[in-house]
Parts: sequence; structure tokens; C-alpha cells
Amino acid sequence: MKANRPPERPPGFIYRRETRLVGKPDLELQADQIPLPRLAKRYGTPLYVYSASTIRERYRQFDQAFRGCEHTICYSIKANSNLSILKMLARLGAGFDIVSGGELQRVMAAAPRTAAKVVFSGVGKLADEIDQALRAGILLFNVESSSELGLLAARAAHHHKTAQFAIRVNPQVAAKTHPYISTGLHEHKFGVPWRDASELYLRGATERYLKPAGISVHIGSQITELDPFRETMQRAASLVRSLRADGLDIRYVDAGGGLGISYKNTSDPSFSSRTKQYARALREPLDGLGVHLLLEPGRAIIGPAGVLLTRVLYRKQNNGKQFVVVDAAMNDLLRPSLYHAYHEIVPVLLRKGAVTTEKVDVVGPVCETGDFFARDRVIRSPQAGDLLAILDTGAYGMSLASNYNTRPRPAEVLVDGARSRLVRKRESIAGLLAPERL
Ligand code: LLP
Repeated sequence: MKANRPPERPPGFIYRRETRLVGKPDLELQADQIPLPRLAKRYGTPLYVYSASTIRERYRQFDQAFRGCEHTICYSIKANSNLSILKMLARLGAGFDIVSGGELQRVMAAAPRTAAKVVFSGVGKLADEIDQALRAGILLFNVESSSELGLLAARAAHHHKTAQFAIRVNPQVAAKTHPYISTGLHEHKFGVPWRDASELYLRGATERYLKPAGISVHIGSQITELDPFRETMQRAASLVRSLRADGLDIRYVDAGGGLGISYKNTSDPSFSSRTKQYARALREPLDGLGVHLLLEPGRAIIGPAGVLLTRVLYRKQNNGKQFVVVDAAMNDLLRPSLYHAYHEIVPVLLRKGAVTTEKVDVVGPVCETGDFFARDRVIRSPQAGDLLAILDTGAYGMSLASNYNTRPRPAEVLVDGARSRLVRKRESIAGLLAPERL
């Protein structure tokens, strides 16, 4: 049986023998110590389920990889912005990477004392958002254009508050990832070109309420090779040297996020060794500079810590093609539709006896051909009523969810050991209609 077991994601999502019914040797997928069928019964489906043990373990492994080097982990809120998760990460010592006033308000609601560990990125910051961040006393503004630098100077002067800033530099390094999530080339809207950076720093340095304090880079997301990170850091190091030679006190290097995860592997046991390699790739080029490293991981921390639990509604076939229609859809999890992203789909219950598999499309109820979670995928034959878990959906799952087709977004549950807690209730149709006027 073991050899045929579908993937698990230790430590959080493991098959265990079902113990409630005596003599029934089925295996069921658990989140920490709670069987997923119990959560489906209690909270309904579709349901995002997060494992606290996984979040903690991954955060610690990531943090430990940078031991011996002054650093702050600024968890990237956009990956999963649930308040309870932010609070938990803040308790573990995290700061935050924000890209909007809304995300700043999440920090202020979940862990206001971490405002001093917040970095603010984004190409379109509003004056009002800059004001909020100045009032909150964040660590660093990652400035993405000359006009933004002007606005930041004006707002900081208005508030008589000094803003520490970094210029987000576009390192012209290819991230080797999906084109939609690659950001480090000149054709992308992010950052400023390398050759323009020094001039901006020097201009910023003349402003009374601006303090050049760091340089920032972020070359993309779901990057699985380390060379692009190393190359980016080499460029960052040479910029630090040249800015320091110009008399600027550059203390921070913000390396951005982007460390990829293995969506296809049956488990991710080597996370600790991969984070160590990643840390080496970032640190070696900076050797001897004595900088404080800022890190903005999102997916690497939270991706494998979540699953989307969904129930099979119908089986159907069209001209021999097999469809499994589930109650989750592209509005709940957009990644397969938007990036053709691969997510493992596994049965929650592994029944004893012979295993039959078939090639199916797993699709949702939304009226779009692009509403699929898997195409031509060989999985264990699911029947109507079965529960399936879509793995590695902790990052960019709920945070990218929408109300398309007037579908309420799913509930979110955080499991910690033998306890589960509803950390976002399921939306209601009444709630969706409430802001509208007839
Ligand atoms: N820092 C900045 C400035 C970013 O733009 C991002 C992600 C991160 C950090 C975090 O990156 P991570 O460590 O999670 O790779 N929706 C896409 C991913 C978009 C990433 C956007 N920026 C997906 O589902 O794959």
C-alpha cells in the first residue's frame, strides 16, 4: 500500500490510519493531527486548510539558514495575508514586505509592533499609502521610480519624518520562471535601470527628510535555480561599494523573495538544505560588506503549508474524455488557470483494496474553459462525494481568490496540533451583494 500512496507534505499533511471506526483500515489525510474529513464536515468545502507546524518549521529552517549573518525575514504578505498567519509569523520574529496600504493595515491589525520591520515595495504607491507608512514608522521604502522618490521626499517633509529608502534596482537578470512572475529585466515595469540608480541615490541624499539606507532587488517568483540569485547579489554588492565610495551609508540589502518550492515532488524533505544553499548564494557575494540582509520570502514559507480541500460533485464524460467536477473553482485557486501551474491533487481517503487510476480533467463549476485544476492527469478514480486535497496551495491561493460567478470565497482554517481554528469565515452571498445598490 505504501508504495502506491499519493504524495504527502510532511510535517503537516500526512496519511494516518483512520481510528474512529474499528476494523476499518482506510488511511486518511490529516492536517497536523486532525483528519481532513472532520474539517470538511465542520467547516464545509471548498476550504483552505493551513498547518501551523509546517509554517513554524519552514520559517525556522529559513531563518536558521541565515544564522551568523545579520538579517530580517520580511514575510511577503501577498502570498497569504490572513491575519492569524501574520500574527503567528510575527511571533516567530518576522517582519513584513507590503505592497499596499491595505497590507500595512493588516500588519497594524495583526502585529502593530512589527511596523518597524516593514519594507514597502510596489510601482504605484499612493500619497495616502506613503503617509500611512510614514506614520507607522516602517523600516524601508523600496522606491521604484524617480517620480516616486520626489513624492516620498515631499510627504516625508510634510510629516517632518525621515524616510529610509532603498532604490529597487532592476538587475537585468533572467529569473528562469514563468514570464508573468519574472520581474528582473528591463522589459518589466519593476525597479529602475542599473545605470540610473546612483543618480537617484545622490538626489535622494540631498533631501532633508530622506535617508539612503539600502538597495533592493527582486527578480521574480518560483525560482528554482540559484545562479540568478547569486548573480543579482554580485551586482548588488558592486552597487553597495560604489554608493559607499560616494559617501552614502548603505546598510541594508533587500534580496526580495522568489525562492521556489517543488510542486511535483512527493515531499519537500530537503527544505533545510535548499535554504542553506540559497543563503550561501545570497551571502557569498556580500561577504565582507557587513550589510544587514532583508529577505522577503512568501511562497517558500507558506506554499506547502496549505491545501485546498474540495468535494467531487459529479463525474461526467464527453466523447470519452473523463471529467471530475469539484466544488472549488478558478475563483478559489487561480494558479492553474493563470500560469498553467501544476498542483498535486490527492484523495483524502485511501480505501483499502485494489487501486484503480484513470486519466481525467479536474474542473470547477465556473463558466470558463480555463476553469481547471488538472488536465489529462492520471489520478486514483474519484467518485462523486469524495474529498480531494489540492496540495501546496498555501501561497497565492486565497490571496488571489475572487468572487467571479458570484461565488463566495472559501473559509480558511488554521490547524495547530490537535486544534483547528476558523481564521476566516466563508463568505456569504448576502455579504457579496451588500455593497451593491439598486
Ligand atoms: N517581494 C516582492 C517585491 C515581490 O513582488 C514578491 C512576489 C515577493 C517578495 C514574494 O515572492 P515569493 O517568495 O512568494 O516568490 N501569483 C504568483 C506569484 C506572484 C509573485 C509576486 N511577487 C504565483 O501564484 O505564482
